[in-house]
Amino acid sequence: MSAYLQCIEGNCQKKIAANAKVHVCPDCSGLLDVMYDFEIDDPGKLKQTFQQRRLSDDLLDLSGVWRYRELLPFCSDPAKVVTMQEGNTPIYEAPYCAEYAGLKRLHLKHQGLNPTGSFKDNGMTAGVTQARLMHSRIVACASTGNTSASMAAYAARAGMKAVIFIPDQQIAFGKLSQSLDYGALTLQLEGDFDEAMKMVKEITEETEVYLLNSINPFRLEGQKTIIIEMLAQRGWKIPDRVVVPGGNLGNSSSFGKAIKELHDLGFIDKMPMVTIIQAQRANPLYRTLTDHSARLIRVEAHTLATAIKIGNPVSWKKAMRAMEWTSGWCDVVSEQEIADAKAMIGRDGVGCEPASATTVAGIKKLIQTKEIDKDEDVIAVLTGNLLKDPDYTVNYHQNNLYEKATYKNELIERKDKIQSTYANAPVKVKASKAEILKVLGL
Ligand code: F0G
Repeated sequence: MSAYLQCIEGNCQKKIAANAKVHVCPDCSGLLDVMYDFEIDDPGKLKQTFQQRRLSDDLLDLSGVWRYRELLPFCSDPAKVVTMQEGNTPIYEAPYCAEYAGLKRLHLKHQGLNPTGSFKDNGMTAGVTQARLMHSRIVACASTGNTSASMAAYAARAGMKAVIFIPDQQIAFGKLSQSLDYGALTLQLEGDFDEAMKMVKEITEETEVYLLNSINPFRLEGQKTIIIEMLAQRGWKIPDRVVVPGGNLGNSSSFGKAIKELHDLGFIDKMPMVTIIQAQRANPLYRTLTDHSARLIRVEAHTLATAIKIGNPVSWKKAMRAMEWTSGWCDVVSEQEIADAKAMIGRDGVGCEPASATTVAGIKKLIQTKEIDKDEDVIAVLTGNLLKDPDYTVNYHQNNLYEKATYKNELIERKDKIQSTYANAPVKVKASKAEILKVLGL
């Protein structure tokens, strides 16, 4: 089964060897897909094989990515695979969130329960494996924090040097702490994620350093398994809709590719709609879609959901393609809507980081606008763990969350307060039994 790279631009479609060190098409700068000459003639049998592998102790079978290896067959040497038993994430029913959003039932697939706490691990196992196949010694990425945490961990496992480019002061502490602990060289750049992305692209183009942002199509091959695992967990019952946050747009792109391939290969006979939710002031895809623009409309991004604070998303064309293939859509939600939806996800005992909550907020909005029907079978993908950004959560519950804050060494000004609609503030109480019983109402 041979893998190769192919330019996604319809008037180019150039094919390139899978081991070429290129990020984009050398002829037209288009994005690249990993393509295969698949040899799957009995999808039903393969579904059974996937199921049986859940009982196996083989390292590849224990991974929620490599268990589905026939659908991403770019690595023919199992010994080269770098895995941390990623994927294997649960699907939870979320009655609080369903009622809040106005749906009869809602399910959450929690990618935040991955080894480093985000969906990036599904992609990174594939990306770092490809780096190893290409004998790379140094890997790099720009990040809003989760890609870097994941890359740092997988590079450490593979014995590679990791270099990460992060916007100074703009990533959550949980994420920063991870890349420091995993030994990555951490470059805090002045400027935002989009500038960090530009720098890392230039540097990896000119040197031997291997780029592991989601412009790297091997990353997206790993992320396809979020959809594949979801369907396998549901006994291949296809949901009507999958809702996902949109930042650099790698995840939504990989969902589109997974769904299209599963459909073309005969695994599914219907395509779930990929619905992408962005923050209102970090909304380049939404603007591009609604303005019917052939070029990306870039924005200067602002949101407290720092994971998706991105104004110039690399994979926007693939995300457009995902929506086109699946009759999907993109919408935006406000900071207030994100904060309240996050609190609701918490009430279901699940929890997530702010960017993930765009999903539930988006579903609520799309039910109100009648884009989503209350009977629909919807899965929201929670992308990151609650513990990634504890400051946000604690500030919300203490009625202390603001959209804008100005720092000059110390906090100077805060503006645009977010209402803590569902606050659950800690209660200060004396260390006295009587006082505690009084608070408990007992
Ligand atoms: N949710 C979380 C928790 C993320 O970390 C990201 C992206 C997204 C959603 C958006 O996903 O980029 O595939 O559209 N974080 C990247 C990072 C950009 O550097 O960690 P996307």
